[in-house]
Amino acid sequence: MSPTPATDRAADPTAARSSARVLEAINRKRRGASLTDEEIEGVVTDYVAGRIPSYQMSAWLATVACRSMATSELTALTRAYIRDGRRLDLTGIGAPVVDKHSTGGVGDTTTLIVVPVVAACGVPVAKMTGRALGFAGGTLDKLSSIPGLRLHLDTDELVPMIRKVGMVITGQSADLTPGDGATYALRDVTGTVESIPLIAASIISKKIAVRADGLVLDIKTGAGALIPDRPDAVLLTQTMMALAASFGLPSRAVLSDMSQPLGPAVGNALEIRQALDVLGGRRSPGLWDLCAAISRLMLQSVDPGLSDAAADAMVERVVDDGSAREMFVRWAVAQGADATVLADPARLPTARRRHLVTATESGVVLGIEPRAVGRATLLVGAGRLTHDASLDYGAGVVLHHRVGDRVGRGDVLAELHYDSGDADGARALLAEAFVVGDGDCAVPPAVHQIF
Ligand code: URA
Repeated sequence: MSPTPATDRAADPTAARSSARVLEAINRKRRGASLTDEEIEGVVTDYVAGRIPSYQMSAWLATVACRSMATSELTALTRAYIRDGRRLDLTGIGAPVVDKHSTGGVGDTTTLIVVPVVAACGVPVAKMTGRALGFAGGTLDKLSSIPGLRLHLDTDELVPMIRKVGMVITGQSADLTPGDGATYALRDVTGTVESIPLIAASIISKKIAVRADGLVLDIKTGAGALIPDRPDAVLLTQTMMALAASFGLPSRAVLSDMSQPLGPAVGNALEIRQALDVLGGRRSPGLWDLCAAISRLMLQSVDPGLSDAAADAMVERVVDDGSAREMFVRWAVAQGADATVLADPARLPTARRRHLVTATESGVVLGIEPRAVGRATLLVGAGRLTHDASLDYGAGVVLHHRVGDRVGRGDVLAELHYDSGDADGARALLAEAFVVGDGDCAVPPAVHQIF
């Protein structure tokens, strides 16, 4: 996973010096020392250049994940991730541009909804997006289920696309943040994703390279979030906002609920259909509440004088009059999507088989464990169990209920869509994910806090 393979290290004095330096940094960090800017920059640039092997970089990342980082170290890491990368120049758009980022979760279709909503309100949006990380879906994978859609635009295509349509969504380019590009996939397979400084530096470095005028962060909390505990998720939010501000990027944030899947659809083409439904006016509870809050903050981030009521009215109007859905279709077609598929979303990839998961007793849905739902989709190929696995775009899960719903014995709780994979394992995970009983049930709000 090292960018260039580390070959015969002992015979290469530069590689040997780099390995000695990273070992020293690991040992100092483990003992509780604060690393210097030069040490952090040295580790990241040596790794990007292939001078240290991935096992030593993994040890360094694991030590940082265990020991955390001081503010000065976090700033140095963020700068190191961007070093030698390109930065976008969005000034040619001629209007303030807004960006958003979510820490990811299950059934989190927000990007596919808020980007066209905000663009339809007249505010240009530039969004670079990534593929799935672990059990949580990735917007890039969801969009890849649309036939023809080009998702790896050259950076010089972005400004013309925004000028033509009003929005752009494209895959993250490792040219912008070489350090994050090199370490992101390594973190996914070494248990070093769930770390406040590593998440903050990874996300904020990409946002600084995009250089939008405003940024809205969606930080998840709850069992399906990267950082489940609420106080830690608040700390992550504050850390990211302060880090962005230290690089001159103003931001707003929502702390949102991921104690249950956000929307009813979990899976690539299923979530595209879900987004088109919401954009067409079928406001799914939970999912729409969060999308409305993020859209409002995005509008206000480029127009701070806009009241909540005025922003909400703009957001509701573009959904009601169909312009947000039209924006999505116009954008996708401009990036090569097959217009006939978007006109008839039933033509998106669809799994041939169904398994129904039903309630074994009557009662109230007290919980839906999001990680179990996410893992169920991985078992039928909607996400990756190995780094280079191909996806089944039609596979996934449709949830028929949310926490707080009353269900009767035999009612359908969830539908598994699949063609292949371990459908029995997935069905068992879904059955376990639902907790139905008679206890008191506090229905979690979609948005816990706004910063
Ligand atoms: N998303 C990112 O881009 N980076 C992380 O570390 C986690 C989520």
